[in-house]
Amino acid sequence: MKVAILSRAFRSYSTQRLRTAALDRGHKVKVLNTLRFGIDLSGDEPDLQFRGKQLSHYDAVIPRIGASITYFGTAVVRQFEQMDVYTPNTATGIMNSRDKLRSIQILSRHDIGIPATTFVRDRADVLPAIERVGGAPVVIKLLEGTQGIGVILAPDRKVAEAIIETLQSTKQNVLIQRFIAESKGRDVRAFVVGDRVIASMRRVAQGDEFRSNVHRGGQVEAIDLPPEYEAAAVRAAQIMGLRVAGVDLLESDEGPLIMEVNSSPGLEGIERATELDIAGAIIDHVANQVAFPEIDVRQRLTVSTGYGVAEIAVLDGAEMIGQTITESGLRERDITVLTLHRGVEVIPNPRGNRVLEGGDRLLCFGKLEEMRSMIPKRRKRRAKVRKLPDEPIHDDGADAS
Ligand SMILES: Nc1ncnc2c1ncn2[C@@H]1O[C@H](COP(=O)(O)OP(=O)(O)O)[C@@H](O)[C@H]1O
Ligand SMILES: [Mg+2]
Repeated sequence: MKVAILSRAFRSYSTQRLRTAALDRGHKVKVLNTLRFGIDLSGDEPDLQFRGKQLSHYDAVIPRIGASITYFGTAVVRQFEQMDVYTPNTATGIMNSRDKLRSIQILSRHDIGIPATTFVRDRADVLPAIERVGGAPVVIKLLEGTQGIGVILAPDRKVAEAIIETLQSTKQNVLIQRFIAESKGRDVRAFVVGDRVIASMRRVAQGDEFRSNVHRGGQVEAIDLPPEYEAAAVRAAQIMGLRVAGVDLLESDEGPLIMEVNSSPGLEGIERATELDIAGAIIDHVANQVAFPEIDVRQRLTVSTGYGVAEIAVLDGAEMIGQTITESGLRERDITVLTLHRGVEVIPNPRGNRVLEGGDRLLCFGKLEEMRSMIPKRRKRRAKVRKLPDEPIHDDGADAS
Protein backbone atom coordinates (compact mmCIF):
# COMPACT_ATOMS: atom_id res chain seq x y z
CA MET A 1 0.00 0.00 0.00
CA LYS A 2 0.94 3.63 -0.23
CA VAL A 3 0.38 5.34 3.06
CA ALA A 4 0.75 8.92 4.27
CA ILE A 5 1.54 9.81 7.85
CA LEU A 6 -0.01 13.17 8.63
CA SER A 7 2.36 14.78 11.08
CA ARG A 8 4.05 18.06 11.75
CA ALA A 9 6.88 16.38 13.62
CA PHE A 10 8.90 14.46 11.04
CA ARG A 11 11.64 13.66 13.54
CA SER A 12 9.45 12.63 16.47
CA TYR A 13 9.78 9.12 17.83
CA SER A 14 6.23 8.09 16.89
CA THR A 15 6.43 9.40 13.33
CA GLN A 16 9.81 7.78 12.70
CA ARG A 17 8.73 4.44 14.14
CA LEU A 18 5.58 4.37 11.97
CA ARG A 19 7.59 5.34 8.90
CA THR A 20 10.25 2.68 9.50
CA ALA A 21 7.64 0.01 10.27
CA ALA A 22 5.89 0.75 6.96
CA LEU A 23 9.17 0.65 4.99
CA ASP A 24 10.25 -2.59 6.69
CA ARG A 25 7.02 -4.19 5.49
CA GLY A 26 7.59 -3.10 1.89
CA HIS A 27 4.99 -0.31 1.83
CA LYS A 28 5.43 3.10 0.26
CA VAL A 29 5.26 5.77 2.91
CA LYS A 30 5.44 9.57 3.08
CA VAL A 31 5.33 11.86 6.09
CA LEU A 32 3.25 14.86 5.08
CA ASN A 33 3.05 18.04 7.15
CA THR A 34 -0.64 18.40 7.99
CA LEU A 35 -0.50 22.17 7.72
CA ARG A 36 0.71 22.12 4.11
CA PHE A 37 -2.49 20.67 2.68
CA GLY A 38 -5.01 22.63 0.72
CA ILE A 39 -8.57 21.39 0.78
CA ASP A 40 -9.88 21.70 -2.73
CA LEU A 41 -13.60 21.86 -3.32
CA SER A 42 -13.48 23.61 -6.67
CA GLY A 43 -13.57 20.61 -9.02
CA ASP A 44 -16.13 17.88 -9.63
CA GLU A 45 -14.80 15.70 -6.85
CA PRO A 46 -13.27 16.39 -3.45
CA ASP A 47 -9.53 16.84 -3.83
CA LEU A 48 -6.41 17.74 -1.89
CA GLN A 49 -3.40 19.86 -2.69
CA PHE A 50 -0.08 19.41 -0.96
CA ARG A 51 2.46 22.21 -0.99
CA GLY A 52 0.43 23.82 -3.74
CA LYS A 53 0.38 20.79 -6.03
CA GLN A 54 -2.25 18.13 -6.59
CA LEU A 55 -1.73 15.26 -4.16
CA SER A 56 -0.95 11.88 -5.70
CA HIS A 57 -2.99 8.79 -4.89
CA TYR A 58 -2.78 7.23 -1.41
CA ASP A 59 -4.41 4.05 -0.12
CA ALA A 60 -4.39 5.07 3.51
CA VAL A 61 -3.50 7.86 5.90
CA ILE A 62 -2.41 7.67 9.51
CA PRO A 63 -3.34 10.97 11.13
CA ARG A 64 -1.24 12.28 14.00
CA ILE A 65 -3.09 15.50 14.70
CA GLY A 66 -1.83 17.65 17.56
CA ALA A 67 -4.30 19.42 19.84
CA SER A 68 -3.22 22.85 18.61
CA ILE A 69 -4.32 22.16 15.03
CA THR A 70 -7.46 20.12 15.61
CA TYR A 71 -9.73 22.18 13.37
CA PHE A 72 -7.50 22.24 10.31
CA GLY A 73 -6.14 18.76 10.90
CA THR A 74 -9.56 17.13 11.13
CA ALA A 75 -10.66 19.04 8.02
CA VAL A 76 -7.76 17.40 6.15
CA VAL A 77 -8.66 13.95 7.51
CA ARG A 78 -12.32 14.51 6.57
CA GLN A 79 -11.22 15.38 3.05
CA PHE A 80 -9.30 12.08 2.78
CA GLU A 81 -12.48 10.32 3.93
CA GLN A 82 -14.47 12.06 1.17
CA MET A 83 -11.86 10.77 -1.28
CA ASP A 84 -12.36 7.18 -0.01
CA VAL A 85 -8.87 6.95 1.45
CA TYR A 86 -8.77 4.67 4.49
CA THR A 87 -8.03 6.24 7.86
CA PRO A 88 -8.05 4.27 11.11
CA ASN A 89 -9.21 7.39 12.94
CA THR A 90 -12.03 9.44 11.46
CA ALA A 91 -12.25 13.21 11.66
CA THR A 92 -15.33 12.86 13.85
CA GLY A 93 -13.55 10.39 16.11
CA ILE A 94 -10.58 12.70 16.55
CA MET A 95 -12.79 15.70 17.28
CA ASN A 96 -15.02 13.83 19.70
CA SER A 97 -12.12 12.43 21.68
CA ARG A 98 -10.27 15.71 21.89
CA ASP A 99 -12.72 17.36 24.22
CA LYS A 100 -12.87 15.77 27.68
CA LEU A 101 -16.53 16.66 28.09
CA ARG A 102 -17.71 15.65 24.65
CA SER A 103 -15.98 12.30 24.85
CA ILE A 104 -17.50 11.23 28.14
CA GLN A 105 -20.89 12.60 27.07
CA ILE A 106 -20.75 10.20 24.13
CA LEU A 107 -19.54 7.29 26.30
CA SER A 108 -22.14 7.97 29.01
CA ARG A 109 -25.09 6.48 27.11
CA HIS A 110 -23.25 3.20 26.73
CA ASP A 111 -22.68 0.68 29.44
CA ILE A 112 -19.17 1.90 30.20
CA GLY A 113 -17.73 3.13 33.49
CA ILE A 114 -16.79 6.82 33.62
CA PRO A 115 -15.91 8.97 36.65
CA ALA A 116 -18.94 10.98 37.82
CA THR A 117 -18.63 14.29 36.01
CA THR A 118 -20.63 17.50 35.78
CA PHE A 119 -20.40 20.61 33.69
CA VAL A 120 -22.03 23.83 34.82
CA ARG A 121 -21.81 27.45 33.86
CA ASP A 122 -23.56 29.54 36.48
CA ARG A 123 -21.84 30.33 39.80
CA ALA A 124 -24.94 29.29 41.66
CA ASP A 125 -24.72 25.80 40.20
CA VAL A 126 -21.11 25.11 41.19
CA LEU A 127 -21.60 23.95 44.79
CA PRO A 128 -24.53 21.64 44.00
CA ALA A 129 -22.44 20.21 41.15
CA ILE A 130 -19.53 19.44 43.49
CA GLU A 131 -21.93 17.69 45.86
CA ARG A 132 -23.47 15.68 43.01
CA VAL A 133 -20.13 14.10 42.12
CA GLY A 134 -19.47 13.21 45.74
CA GLY A 135 -18.15 16.42 47.33
CA ALA A 136 -14.57 17.55 48.00
CA PRO A 137 -11.81 16.67 47.43
CA VAL A 138 -12.81 17.06 43.80
CA VAL A 139 -11.00 17.16 40.47
CA ILE A 140 -11.33 20.22 38.23
CA LYS A 141 -10.31 19.95 34.57
CA LEU A 142 -9.92 22.28 31.66
CA LEU A 143 -11.81 20.81 28.71
CA GLU A 144 -8.85 20.68 26.36
CA GLY A 145 -5.82 20.26 28.62
CA THR A 146 -3.12 17.70 27.91
CA GLN A 147 -0.10 16.31 29.77
CA GLY A 148 -1.79 16.95 33.09
CA ILE A 149 -1.83 20.71 32.65
CA GLY A 150 -5.20 22.06 33.70
CA VAL A 151 -6.04 19.14 35.97
CA ILE A 152 -6.35 20.27 39.58
CA LEU A 153 -7.25 18.46 42.78
CA ALA A 154 -9.21 20.83 45.02
CA PRO A 155 -9.04 19.79 48.68
CA ASP A 156 -12.26 21.44 49.80
CA ARG A 157 -15.40 23.11 48.50
CA LYS A 158 -14.27 26.67 49.08
CA VAL A 159 -11.03 26.17 47.18
CA ALA A 160 -12.85 24.31 44.42
CA GLU A 161 -15.32 27.15 44.05
CA ALA A 162 -12.52 29.73 43.94
CA ILE A 163 -10.58 27.78 41.29
CA ILE A 164 -13.65 27.31 39.13
CA GLU A 165 -14.58 30.98 39.40
CA THR A 166 -11.06 32.06 38.51
CA LEU A 167 -10.92 29.80 35.46
CA GLN A 168 -14.37 30.81 34.30
CA SER A 169 -13.52 34.49 34.66
CA THR A 170 -10.81 33.92 32.04
CA LYS A 171 -13.42 32.29 29.76
CA GLN A 172 -12.14 28.76 30.33
CA ASN A 173 -14.61 25.90 30.39
CA VAL A 174 -14.05 23.51 33.27
CA LEU A 175 -15.59 20.27 34.31
CA ILE A 176 -15.97 18.94 37.80
CA GLN A 177 -15.14 15.31 38.36
CA ARG A 178 -15.29 12.90 41.26
CA PHE A 179 -11.83 12.28 42.70
CA ILE A 180 -11.18 8.56 42.41
CA ALA A 181 -9.13 8.42 45.58
CA GLU A 182 -8.35 4.69 45.43
CA SER A 183 -6.50 5.19 42.16
CA LYS A 184 -4.60 8.20 43.50
CA GLY A 185 -1.50 8.82 41.45
CA ARG A 186 -2.06 5.85 39.11
CA ASP A 187 -3.71 5.27 35.82
CA VAL A 188 -3.67 2.71 33.05
CA ARG A 189 -2.95 3.35 29.38
CA ALA A 190 -4.43 0.68 27.13
CA PHE A 191 -3.23 0.84 23.55
CA VAL A 192 -6.02 -0.22 21.20
CA VAL A 193 -5.43 -1.23 17.59
CA GLY A 194 -8.46 -2.51 15.68
CA ASP A 195 -10.57 -4.41 18.16
CA ARG A 196 -7.76 -5.46 20.48
CA VAL A 197 -5.67 -4.04 23.27
CA ILE A 198 -2.19 -4.74 21.97
CA ALA A 199 -0.23 -3.31 24.89
CA SER A 200 -0.84 -1.68 28.22
CA MET A 201 1.05 0.03 30.95
CA ARG A 202 0.47 1.58 34.32
CA ARG A 203 1.68 5.07 35.05
CA VAL A 204 2.53 5.93 38.62
CA ALA A 205 2.96 9.49 39.84
CA GLN A 206 5.98 10.42 41.92
CA GLY A 207 5.84 11.87 45.42
CA ASP A 208 2.55 13.42 46.43
CA GLU A 209 1.56 14.31 42.87
CA PHE A 210 -1.89 12.85 41.99
CA ARG A 211 -1.44 13.14 38.23
CA SER A 212 0.38 10.20 36.71
CA ASN A 213 1.26 11.85 33.37
CA VAL A 214 4.77 11.08 32.15
CA HIS A 215 5.23 14.81 31.59
CA ARG A 216 4.57 15.23 35.32
CA GLY A 217 7.28 12.71 36.17
CA GLY A 218 5.08 9.61 36.17
CA GLN A 219 6.92 6.28 35.94
CA VAL A 220 5.67 3.54 33.64
CA GLU A 221 5.54 -0.23 33.90
CA ALA A 222 4.12 -2.81 31.50
CA ILE A 223 1.10 -4.68 32.84
CA ASP A 224 -1.27 -7.46 31.81
CA LEU A 225 -4.74 -6.01 31.78
CA PRO A 226 -7.65 -7.98 33.22
CA PRO A 227 -10.21 -8.87 30.49
CA GLU A 228 -12.75 -6.47 31.99
CA TYR A 229 -10.34 -3.58 31.47
CA GLU A 230 -9.48 -4.68 27.94
CA ALA A 231 -13.15 -4.91 26.99
CA ALA A 232 -13.85 -1.44 28.36
CA ALA A 233 -10.91 0.07 26.48
CA VAL A 234 -11.82 -1.55 23.15
CA ARG A 235 -15.47 -0.53 23.44
CA ALA A 236 -14.56 3.04 24.33
CA ALA A 237 -12.33 3.30 21.26
CA GLN A 238 -15.02 1.79 19.04
CA ILE A 239 -17.72 4.11 20.35
CA MET A 240 -15.48 7.09 19.67
CA GLY A 241 -14.80 5.91 16.11
CA LEU A 242 -11.08 5.31 16.66
CA ARG A 243 -9.23 2.19 15.48
CA VAL A 244 -5.93 3.38 16.92
CA ALA A 245 -6.30 4.88 20.38
CA GLY A 246 -4.63 5.30 23.73
CA VAL A 247 -7.36 4.74 26.26
CA ASP A 248 -6.70 6.03 29.77
CA LEU A 249 -8.48 4.28 32.61
CA LEU A 250 -8.64 4.67 36.35
CA GLU A 251 -8.70 1.58 38.55
CA SER A 252 -11.63 2.17 40.85
CA ASP A 253 -13.25 -0.02 43.48
CA GLU A 254 -16.10 -0.49 40.99
CA GLY A 255 -13.84 -1.58 38.12
CA PRO A 256 -12.47 0.31 35.12
CA LEU A 257 -13.43 3.94 34.61
CA ILE A 258 -12.62 5.53 31.26
CA MET A 259 -10.95 8.88 31.73
CA GLU A 260 -10.01 9.82 28.21
CA VAL A 261 -9.42 8.40 24.75
CA ASN A 262 -6.44 9.76 22.84
CA SER A 263 -6.54 9.70 19.05
CA SER A 264 -2.79 10.31 18.53
CA PRO A 265 -1.25 8.27 21.34
CA GLY A 266 2.52 8.53 21.65
CA LEU A 267 4.49 5.36 20.90
CA GLU A 268 7.68 5.99 22.82
CA GLY A 269 6.50 5.39 26.38
CA ILE A 270 4.49 2.28 25.57
CA GLU A 271 7.11 0.70 23.27
CA ARG A 272 9.85 1.28 25.83
CA ALA A 273 7.72 -0.06 28.68
CA THR A 274 6.44 -3.15 26.88
CA GLU A 275 9.20 -3.78 24.31
CA LEU A 276 6.43 -4.48 21.80
CA ASP A 277 6.37 -3.38 18.17
CA ILE A 278 3.34 -1.09 18.42
CA ALA A 279 4.19 0.80 15.21
CA GLY A 280 4.31 -2.50 13.29
CA ALA A 281 0.91 -3.52 14.67
CA ILE A 282 -0.60 -0.21 13.54
CA ILE A 283 0.84 -0.56 10.03
CA ASP A 284 -0.36 -4.18 9.76
CA HIS A 285 -3.84 -3.18 10.86
CA VAL A 286 -4.00 -0.34 8.35
CA ALA A 287 -2.73 -2.60 5.54
CA ASN A 288 -5.49 -5.08 6.39
CA GLN A 289 -8.24 -2.49 6.37
CA VAL A 290 -7.21 -0.43 3.36
CA ALA A 291 -9.99 -1.89 1.25
CA PHE A 292 -12.60 -0.53 3.67
CA PRO A 293 -12.55 3.25 3.72
CA GLU A 294 -14.91 4.91 6.15
CA ILE A 295 -18.46 5.39 4.93
CA ASP A 296 -20.97 7.49 6.78
CA VAL A 297 -23.59 4.77 6.53
CA ARG A 298 -26.50 6.67 7.96
CA GLN A 299 -25.91 9.68 5.76
CA ARG A 300 -25.46 7.58 2.61
CA LEU A 301 -28.54 5.48 3.28
CA THR A 302 -30.66 8.54 3.94
CA VAL A 303 -29.89 10.23 0.64
CA SER A 304 -32.98 8.79 -1.12
CA THR A 305 -36.03 10.76 -0.04
CA GLY A 306 -38.25 8.97 2.41
CA TYR A 307 -35.75 6.24 3.21
CA GLY A 308 -33.60 5.90 6.29
CA VAL A 309 -32.28 3.74 9.08
CA ALA A 310 -34.27 2.94 12.21
CA GLU A 311 -34.26 0.46 15.06
CA ILE A 312 -37.46 -1.55 15.27
CA ALA A 313 -38.28 -3.28 18.53
CA VAL A 314 -40.14 -6.58 18.68
CA LEU A 315 -42.30 -5.69 21.66
CA ASP A 316 -43.80 -8.27 23.97
CA GLY A 317 -47.07 -9.48 22.47
CA ALA A 318 -46.12 -8.30 18.98
CA GLU A 319 -47.54 -10.27 16.08
CA MET A 320 -44.01 -10.81 14.72
CA ILE A 321 -42.98 -13.01 17.68
CA GLY A 322 -42.60 -16.61 16.55
CA GLN A 323 -42.62 -15.61 12.87
CA THR A 324 -39.56 -15.78 10.67
CA ILE A 325 -38.20 -12.56 9.21
CA THR A 326 -39.69 -13.60 5.85
CA GLU A 327 -43.11 -14.28 7.40
CA SER A 328 -43.05 -10.97 9.26
CA GLY A 329 -43.82 -9.20 5.99
CA LEU A 330 -41.10 -6.59 6.56
CA ARG A 331 -39.70 -7.13 3.08
CA GLU A 332 -43.11 -6.53 1.47
CA ARG A 333 -43.24 -3.22 3.32
CA ASP A 334 -39.87 -2.35 1.74
CA ILE A 335 -37.91 -2.83 4.98
CA THR A 336 -34.57 -4.68 5.07
CA VAL A 337 -33.13 -6.03 8.32
CA LEU A 338 -29.44 -5.14 8.59
CA THR A 339 -28.71 -6.56 12.04
CA LEU A 340 -30.64 -8.30 14.76
CA HIS A 341 -29.82 -7.43 18.39
CA ARG A 342 -30.82 -10.09 20.87
CA GLY A 343 -29.67 -9.42 24.43
CA VAL A 344 -25.95 -8.82 24.13
CA GLU A 345 -25.72 -10.76 20.86
CA VAL A 346 -25.59 -9.02 17.48
CA ILE A 347 -26.51 -11.08 14.41
CA PRO A 348 -25.43 -9.36 11.19
CA ASN A 349 -27.41 -9.94 7.98
CA PRO A 350 -29.95 -12.27 9.64
CA ARG A 351 -31.46 -14.81 7.27
CA GLY A 352 -35.11 -14.84 6.28
CA ASN A 353 -35.71 -18.11 8.12
CA ARG A 354 -34.62 -16.74 11.49
CA VAL A 355 -37.46 -16.75 14.02
CA LEU A 356 -38.10 -13.49 15.88
CA GLU A 357 -38.36 -13.34 19.66
CA GLY A 358 -39.89 -10.80 22.01
CA GLY A 359 -37.29 -8.19 22.98
CA ASP A 360 -35.38 -8.46 19.70
CA ARG A 361 -34.26 -5.20 18.18
CA LEU A 362 -33.90 -4.97 14.42
CA LEU A 363 -31.69 -2.38 12.82
CA CYS A 364 -33.51 -1.74 9.55
CA PHE A 365 -33.21 0.22 6.37
CA GLY A 366 -36.39 1.15 4.59
CA LYS A 367 -39.28 3.52 4.08
CA LEU A 368 -39.42 5.81 7.11
CA GLU A 369 -43.22 6.06 6.89
CA GLU A 370 -43.56 2.27 7.10
CA MET A 371 -41.19 2.05 10.06
CA ARG A 372 -42.68 4.91 12.06
CA SER A 373 -45.32 2.81 13.82
CA MET A 374 -42.77 0.14 14.81
CA ILE A 375 -40.25 2.37 16.55
CA PRO A 376 -40.34 1.83 20.31
CA LYS A 377 -41.69 4.60 22.51
CA ARG A 378 -38.91 6.76 23.83
CA ARG A 379 -37.86 5.87 27.31
CA LYS A 380 -39.47 8.37 29.67
CA ARG A 381 -37.28 9.92 32.31
CA ARG A 382 -38.21 8.84 35.77
CA ALA A 383 -40.36 11.50 37.37
CA LYS A 384 -38.83 12.61 40.66
CA VAL A 385 -42.11 14.11 41.94
CA ARG A 386 -44.94 11.89 43.09
CA LYS A 387 -47.85 11.60 40.70
CA LEU A 388 -51.04 13.36 41.69
CA PRO A 389 -53.87 11.02 42.61
CA ASP A 390 -56.43 10.43 39.86
CA GLU A 391 -59.20 11.98 41.95
CA PRO A 392 -58.86 15.72 42.56
CA ILE A 393 -58.19 16.59 46.18
CA HIS A 394 -60.87 18.79 47.78
CA ASP A 395 -60.78 19.64 51.40
CA ASP A 396 -64.39 20.80 51.42
CA GLY A 397 -65.84 18.49 48.82
CA ALA A 398 -66.74 21.43 46.59
CA ASP A 399 -66.45 21.24 42.82
CA ALA A 400 -62.98 22.45 41.80
CA SER A 401 -64.30 24.30 38.77
N1 LIG B 1 -11.11 11.86 38.54
C1 LIG B 1 -9.85 11.56 38.81
N2 LIG B 1 -9.53 10.88 39.96
C2 LIG B 1 -8.24 10.58 40.25
N3 LIG B 1 -7.17 10.91 39.48
C3 LIG B 1 -7.42 11.59 38.32
C4 LIG B 1 -8.76 11.95 37.94
N4 LIG B 1 -8.71 12.60 36.77
C5 LIG B 1 -7.39 12.66 36.42
N5 LIG B 1 -6.61 12.07 37.35
C6 LIG B 1 -5.13 11.96 37.27
O1 LIG B 1 -4.64 13.10 36.56
C7 LIG B 1 -4.00 12.70 35.35
C8 LIG B 1 -4.32 13.68 34.22
O2 LIG B 1 -5.71 13.71 33.93
P1 LIG B 1 -6.29 13.63 32.46
O3 LIG B 1 -7.76 13.80 32.53
O4 LIG B 1 -5.78 12.41 31.77
O5 LIG B 1 -5.66 14.93 31.77
P2 LIG B 1 -4.58 15.06 30.61
O6 LIG B 1 -5.35 15.05 29.34
O7 LIG B 1 -3.96 16.39 30.87
O8 LIG B 1 -3.65 13.89 30.70
C9 LIG B 1 -4.51 11.30 35.08
O9 LIG B 1 -3.58 10.57 34.33
C10 LIG B 1 -4.71 10.73 36.48
O10 LIG B 1 -3.51 10.23 37.02
MG1 LIG C 1 -4.28 11.89 30.35
